[in-house]
Amino acid sequence: MDLKDLIQKDRERKRKEKFEGTFLDYLELVKEDPTTPKLSHKRIYEMISRDGYETLDPEKEVRVRNIYGEKVRVYNFFKDEFFGIEKAIEEIVKYFHAASLGGEEARQMLYLVGAVGSGKSSLVEKLKSALEEREQIYALSGCPMHEEPLHLVPRHLRGQFEEELGVKIDGDLCPVCRWRLVNEYDSQYERFPVRLVSFSKRNRIGIAAVPPVDPNNQDTSVLIGSVDISKIDKYPEDDPRVLRLNGAFNVGNRGLIEFIEIFKNEIEYLHTIITATQEKVIPAPGKQNLIYFDGVIVAHSNFAEWNKFKSELTNEALLDRIVKIEIPYCMELDQEVRIYQKYIKKSHFEAHIAPGTIRFVSMFAVCSRLKETNKVDILTKMKLYNGEDVIDKGKVKKVSVQELKRDVEGEGFSGISTRFVMKAISDAIVESEHECINPLQLRDVLIRKVRQLTIADEEKKRYLTLLTDTLHKEYLKELEREIMRAFVHAYEEQAEGLFNNYVDHIEAFCNKTKLKDPVTKEEVNPDEHFMRSIEEQIGIVGEAAKGFRQDVMAYLMSMFRKNEKVAWRSYEPLKEAVENKLMASVKDLSRIVTKAKIRDKEQQQKYNVMVAKMIESGYCEHCAESLLKYAANNLWTTE
Ligand SMILES: Nc1ncnc2c1ncn2[C@@H]1O[C@H](COP(=O)(O)OP(=O)(O)OP(=O)(O)O)[C@@H](O)[C@H]1O
Ligand SMILES: [Mg+2]
Repeated sequence: MDLKDLIQKDRERKRKEKFEGTFLDYLELVKEDPTTPKLSHKRIYEMISRDGYETLDPEKEVRVRNIYGEKVRVYNFFKDEFFGIEKAIEEIVKYFHAASLGGEEARQMLYLVGAVGSGKSSLVEKLKSALEEREQIYALSGCPMHEEPLHLVPRHLRGQFEEELGVKIDGDLCPVCRWRLVNEYDSQYERFPVRLVSFSKRNRIGIAAVPPVDPNNQDTSVLIGSVDISKIDKYPEDDPRVLRLNGAFNVGNRGLIEFIEIFKNEIEYLHTIITATQEKVIPAPGKQNLIYFDGVIVAHSNFAEWNKFKSELTNEALLDRIVKIEIPYCMELDQEVRIYQKYIKKSHFEAHIAPGTIRFVSMFAVCSRLKETNKVDILTKMKLYNGEDVIDKGKVKKVSVQELKRDVEGEGFSGISTRFVMKAISDAIVESEHECINPLQLRDVLIRKVRQLTIADEEKKRYLTLLTDTLHKEYLKELEREIMRAFVHAYEEQAEGLFNNYVDHIEAFCNKTKLKDPVTKEEVNPDEHFMRSIEEQIGIVGEAAKGFRQDVMAYLMSMFRKNEKVAWRSYEPLKEAVENKLMASVKDLSRIVTKAKIRDKEQQQKYNVMVAKMIESGYCEHCAESLLKYAANNLWTTE
């Protein structure tokens, strides 16, 4: 790409987009397109909905049925950056939708509450940056609040203007523009200049953020601007020329004002919010009248502050003007994985990350957030929340996620935060010697960091048990599987073969027929010993076998009727049995090869093939070797 060319073109585009004209010219534009003037909620709602959404249907997708049990909208605007919080996002969009239609929400503040690192700031950030990237507004030139030009229309003509233009006119001129109209334009408002401007954080146009203020210095000039003392000598006190309308409400007019950690402020400081939301006016500094304001007010904080604030009776007035939306942590494993993938992609890490590493930390984060129940163990709960089928005694476990969710309160609002995990990932990367991290190294970092946390002992113990026991074992199982998969020559073919063979035998068994021996072509009875050797892999023995075989047949028949292809992975219980059987048959061999300190030629060759296979599936030379070494010393020790 020619950069000079790019700059040239960009400048040309900007020049074209730049509108500078008089109010009269602006009126022409509005007449052409009456959707030009827009209140702030509507602008943001349209910005979000322009990208469209997808409806997840429980009738069509098992995952949706398992996790939500109802229809969910996934908004494209948020889709690539926010994961596992679709429900909360739906609520946010609903707020904007209702507000855009002029509902009471338009006169309420949006308030996001959730645990640390649950994505509150990022959600607001997303709205702000999208405003910057995609939206522009027509504003009165030189207005400190970049106000809507239609404010110029005198009250007594508004009815006629509204009819002629097909728009509704809200709001009145700010004191600065009113002064200029009279003194610079001789009240000829049609001559007042209008400009097209972009939202900009840096230039303080339409986007403002208010951090919590020191309780001893709750100076409201941060919110509404101030009187310029140096000009007081020059002009009378009530002259707008002494005003400095540079507070957050002035800057954020027509766009969005974010109150960070809002309830860290004294309540008196927040009184402006009450009039700004309800009456759509803000106080002016000094001796001026109230000023019209139109902006989206978004605030956030965590639960401790919310509870404190809520419990004080004197806060009632503000409480009544809040739309509160809870932002939970993600509790879906696959989605949690995506959060860290996004994070890694955004940073400049170059280290290799072994397969399973991000999944391991995500399991930890999700499990730490789930509450214990006596219905299922924590790992099962995690898998169910992830929309997975969990197999128990040869059958898919029938526990509804909605029921589990109903059983506990406040789930998703405590536990390990995303930020904690991100720091652990970067620590592990920085500490890694070989530009490569694996789940075991990350586990060590997590253990160390959990030990340093200042939290209740019981909670700490629970996290450490997850890391050293529950999840560690789960990972080792997976590692063992990976190693053996790498070891089994032509794994897929062998599994498929076992599966087909098993199906042939149980078909004959269920139909009470014989089958043909593939070699001798003789008619033989189904091989009970062989069938059992598969079934016992998932704990099906004795009488249960018959039922299991019938279940498998019923499943196959239903797939056949639906014209769907079956493969060895199709039916989860049988998949597990086949896989275990395959593993069992090579377990000894692979153990010997992995463990051997000195390998003979044949063993060495097998070992090399295994490493090569692992590299094929995403390991690097280093993590493949070190995980194999770990397996040799720590797996299979009891046998
Ligand atoms: N559900 C999620 N989807 C995608 N990213 C997420 C999600 N939850 C958290 N994150 C990521 O985690 C990080 C921390 O989030 P953020 O700073 O927005 O949290 P917060 O709720 O504002 O926390 P705090 O209360 O500590 O200010 C960000 O990088 C954010 O993108
Ligand atoms: Mg934050």
